[in-house]
Amino acid sequence: MKDSRKVLITGVAGFIGSNLASRLLAEGYGVLGIDNLAYGLRENVPDGVEFHRVDIRYKEIYSLFEGVNTVFHLAAKNCIADCQADPVETAEINVAGTVNIFEAARRAGVRKIVYAESSALYEGSDIYPTPESEVRPESFYAVSKLASMYFAEAYKRYFGSSSPRHSSPITDHPSPTTDHSSLVTNHPLHFTALRYFCVYGPVQDYRRTIHPVMSAFIIKLLKGEQPTIYGTGEKRRDFVYVDDVNDFHLLCIKDDRTNGKTFNIGSGISYSVKEILGMIARMLAVTPNPVYKDDLPGEAQVTLADITQARALGWEPKTPLESGLEKAIEYIREEMAAGRIP
Ligand SMILES: NC(=O)c1ccc[n+]([C@@H]2O[C@H](COP(=O)([O-])OP(=O)(O)OC[C@H]3O[C@@H](n4cnc5c(N)ncnc54)[C@H](O)[C@@H]3O)[C@@H](O)[C@H]2O)c1
Repeated sequence: MKDSRKVLITGVAGFIGSNLASRLLAEGYGVLGIDNLAYGLRENVPDGVEFHRVDIRYKEIYSLFEGVNTVFHLAAKNCIADCQADPVETAEINVAGTVNIFEAARRAGVRKIVYAESSALYEGSDIYPTPESEVRPESFYAVSKLASMYFAEAYKRYFGSSSPRHSSPITDHPSPTTDHSSLVTNHPLHFTALRYFCVYGPVQDYRRTIHPVMSAFIIKLLKGEQPTIYGTGEKRRDFVYVDDVNDFHLLCIKDDRTNGKTFNIGSGISYSVKEILGMIARMLAVTPNPVYKDDLPGEAQVTLADITQARALGWEPKTPLESGLEKAIEYIREEMAAGRIP
């Protein structure tokens, strides 16, 4: 029996997943979360989430999708430098793992999957602000997100609302190991793809090989150390606060106009890395003296979202950068005070 308020989040112990779980619980949804804790932390998962420590690549996850109405698929290997260092694992998690989630959802008759693509898909574009049509991935991470996009297209083709689901090649010619009893063919599976730009806010992961730029700057400056800038500091980024992103997540659950669509989720404003450092330093009342290192491989020089499509549904990124930064700083201060940041 499907519960229209039951939501499954993959990557629930990560930054966006844990924030989304808190928001959904506050809104009265039932939340089931999966994560293998490769990057996320168990303590990030809010109380009230039915948590399963499991890998998205395993078929054992299929039974968890029974009765689920909406899936948010956020689990990924997503540090670009790590992905460049290990393209094979990038493909295993971000491509095969993603297809496994799509398949689990299809078999369980899930109504809708909202899944994470990325602004990295625009790495090779020089059109700013960048519309959703400008797909030009370069890095292994971005290419893995592109592969997810193509698999979602194929799932829409064979299992979406206008598809001939009963005659699909997958259901007609199952492998000898396919469990026929679990094949669901009478509910359309809807997809929404979200291309997040630089999402920031509390619980942002600061443990990965290359920290997200804001957390990295805040931590270093709070410790009285000098931050590192990769490249010249002129790279520009479109930052969007996590609560604003969650507003759009809720819209995806409630508004069927999001079905079958792809949306840029950014603020539509970009700041250079140097500007961000300057802003954080002013807020902390310190003078930065950054260490400059070689630019990182596979990173775009500019990200700037064209958010016309998301705005057309009534969504607006509401949080000014300074207020969002205040909350991000407060979170890191608390983590440091609790001794969780060495
Ligand atoms: N944060 C951003 O600014 C941003 C920007 C663009 C795209 N995205 C995408 O949004 C999604 C969420 O990003 P985030 O910032 O919350 O990342 P995150 O690293 O904080 O969270 C990802 C979670 O996925 C889990 N995970 C990784 N591999 C797994 C596996 N094989 N099985 C189960 N769990 C696994 C990790 O343990 C982690 O908790 C990702 O798909 C990412 O690519 C994020």
